[in-house]
Amino acid sequence: MQTHEIRQRFTQHFVNAGHTAVPSASLILDDPTLLFVNAGMVPFKPYFLGQQTPPFPGGTATSIQKCVRTLDIEEVGITTRHNTFFQMAGNFSFGQYFKEGAIKNAWSLLTNPLDEGGYGLDPERLWVTVFLDDDEAADIWEHTIGVPAERIQRMGMEDNFWSMGIPGPCGPCSEIYYDRGPEHGKDGGPIADDTRYLEIWNLVFMESIRGDGDKKGGFDIVGELPKKNIDTGMGVERVACILQGVDNVYETDLLRPVIDRAVEVTGARYNEGNADDDVRFRVIADHSRTAMMIILDGVTPSNEGRGYILRRLLRRIVRSARLLGASGEVLEEFMNTIMDTMTPSFPEIAENRERIVRVAVTEERAFMKTLVSGTHRFEEAAAATKSAGTSKLSGSQAFELHDTYGFPIDLTLEMAREAGLEVDMDAFDAEMQAQRARAKADNKAKKQGNIDESLYREWVDASPTEFVGYTELNHPGKVIGLIRGGERVGEVSQGQDVEVILDVTPMYAESGGQLGDRGRIVVGDTVLDVHDVQKVGKKLWVHKATVRDGGLDVGQLVTAEVDPTWRHGARQAHTATHLIHAALRQVLGPTAVQAGSMNKPGYLRFDFNYTEQLSDAQLREITTITNEAVDADLAVNTIETSLEEAKAMGAMALFGENYGSEVRVVEIGGPFSIELCGGTHVGHSSQIGPVAVLGESSVGSGARRIEAYAGMESFRYFSKEAALASSLAAELKTPTDELPARIAQLTERLRAAEKEIEALNRQQLVSQSAQYVAKAQQAGQFTLVALTLAEGIGAADLRTVAADVRERLGAVPGVVALASVSGEKVPFAVAVTTEGVGAGVKAGDLVKLLGGYVDGKGGGKPDLAQGSGSNPAGIDAGLAAVRDELTRR
Ligand code: SER
Repeated sequence: MQTHEIRQRFTQHFVNAGHTAVPSASLILDDPTLLFVNAGMVPFKPYFLGQQTPPFPGGTATSIQKCVRTLDIEEVGITTRHNTFFQMAGNFSFGQYFKEGAIKNAWSLLTNPLDEGGYGLDPERLWVTVFLDDDEAADIWEHTIGVPAERIQRMGMEDNFWSMGIPGPCGPCSEIYYDRGPEHGKDGGPIADDTRYLEIWNLVFMESIRGDGDKKGGFDIVGELPKKNIDTGMGVERVACILQGVDNVYETDLLRPVIDRAVEVTGARYNEGNADDDVRFRVIADHSRTAMMIILDGVTPSNEGRGYILRRLLRRIVRSARLLGASGEVLEEFMNTIMDTMTPSFPEIAENRERIVRVAVTEERAFMKTLVSGTHRFEEAAAATKSAGTSKLSGSQAFELHDTYGFPIDLTLEMAREAGLEVDMDAFDAEMQAQRARAKADNKAKKQGNIDESLYREWVDASPTEFVGYTELNHPGKVIGLIRGGERVGEVSQGQDVEVILDVTPMYAESGGQLGDRGRIVVGDTVLDVHDVQKVGKKLWVHKATVRDGGLDVGQLVTAEVDPTWRHGARQAHTATHLIHAALRQVLGPTAVQAGSMNKPGYLRFDFNYTEQLSDAQLREITTITNEAVDADLAVNTIETSLEEAKAMGAMALFGENYGSEVRVVEIGGPFSIELCGGTHVGHSSQIGPVAVLGESSVGSGARRIEAYAGMESFRYFSKEAALASSLAAELKTPTDELPARIAQLTERLRAAEKEIEALNRQQLVSQSAQYVAKAQQAGQFTLVALTLAEGIGAADLRTVAADVRERLGAVPGVVALASVSGEKVPFAVAVTTEGVGAGVKAGDLVKLLGGYVDGKGGGKPDLAQGSGSNPAGIDAGLAAVRDELTRR
């Protein structure tokens, strides 16, 4: 039975039993704790926790969820069952049926005959496990279903208690195994052998909430869920493996074609006794699919997070193929093959084929550039390590491979293992940290003028700044530190550039993309102009200022004043950034993940991961949705809450960002936009004023940037555009509406006129040919026309004239050699008559000769050749050389 049909039967079975069929969610959800969706229940988590009411009429649902788990990547191809991408078919009950319903439903699908919509598995081959003290489940299996007691086994926390590995819903589970027969391992049920007995379905009786701790059992149960729920997950690939009678998941119908393609591409053989090669083939099949599916969901290769996983998968494929004997590029072939097999189940692949291939091949080319030299470098390092009598590759060598040759550390680890070596990972990590610190310091240095952070340490530790700027624009504060020229000082005076540290401040320090406030610090007659505010650590505010009047001492009480105009603009721009983000995701979908942003009064830019250029229509739609949201006067609310709560609200967070346990949520118009954000915002969206989207552009490897103006800046922009249009309209004497048509018409006329001029010029040139013929001279047996034509004659015209003059020479052994100066270039051409060619002269040879004098190159046919050089001073000597050459013959 094909995988596609296994899926269909699953869905049908549960729809018949009243479940709502829910499509697979994207592999990428907004959850900073989760790289990829890794279980069917992930999108349903709020329903289990009782935070949201499930929107399914009967309170039950079924889905076939795309999942990625890369924790076991090393196992791929070695065991029979580890796929990094797999499809988890599941049924879910939110407070409806519980253990008995789940067990009956699963059993009937597995064992019902094929013609009744089931999978027709032999009940005698099925084994089940239950959690240690779960007598209720054991009883249902034995007495309601009729599984003999000896095929019901009990397992502990590690195996039969399921949670997401993090605090959240959990419960005991019961697993169903299929006995593949004695040729696959020893007797004794799943407890004895989990290769022979293949786990195919996990039924989780979701009833509790777990706290912090280890994934496998080392956590406490901290509460009960409001209702008893069911979450099950059947491994589609594993069922396919059984129903298709193949040895392992890599040989099922969706993956096997990639192995076959790899056999063709590499010339190596599969399943003919070379175990290492077999693993490589399976790695290629598995990773090709995973890479393809995560590119489909919008990931592009990078050195972090999801992008790093993708990079690692793609590079592993390329390396495996090389080890199997491939010499050229392979990813296009593999991507095409896997897309063919996967499209029937995932039709959205069809319109993304080109993009998927492009992303994969770009990465392949980047890697190929360094693969050979990197491998060479690795081998040198490995040999040196061994001859030094150790078995540990140094951290700096691993770091060099990463930094210079683009070898993901996991690749180095793998290669080291193959060579019987280890890698000094502590030293490698230290090098990476040092590099990160350097990059950070670089960035900071640009902002902070290269200041040693140790200067601030005491304040950071002892008495950081209290920020009151969400509600106040003016506030008293005490000067707790002054810094000048990189040193702590006790006082500062007029004209000096200083850094001021206050115990309390209303001034916003740059973070979350929003630039620091501008404003003043005042006391009595003393005034400091604050031109930037930066944070040191998370809590120390550093005001960068110039003393305009008076002086300041440490310990003085001052008032810090935010420039209200600056803040007004900053709030507008920051709230506009959130609106654009929300609009962008409405238009492009959830794969357009934020990659960074910057906003300051009147202006914002927003970077996001997306490989396609946005169309004009998409940009217009984003602009419209944004401005409609402004017009709708949506309320902007901020809520301080726990990270858990914020995620339950659906708040968008940046992946990889380190949020504290308390976070601030900015919500605009209820569900329209909910983000984790510490910035300053307007109270109502209408206060932003118009938002003018300027355009979008690429900012390198898979990221794009939208730029926009907000508030009065938009107005100024529109006014300028309107004025420009008016002046053009006046100049062209046409209404503004008709400008595009008018300009198109003018451009068309200009183009026609240029063509006409070109034709006339050529005619004129050719008409001078007769004159040139008159300048013919004799060079030995040859009639030669060797001339420098007027400046500005291009290569094409020169050739036309040369050919024309040659015709006029008539049936004699004749040669025409012409040169000219056109801009920076020296075009030249040589034409030879039939008789000339007959006498052994080749235009190409003469062109080469001439080229030598004008620093140029050229070539062509024996009767006509041309070239281009760069040294006009050599023309005369070059033509003379041609004449001498002919005379000599
Ligand atoms: N959540 C369980 C699993 O992932 C069952 O769906 O195994």
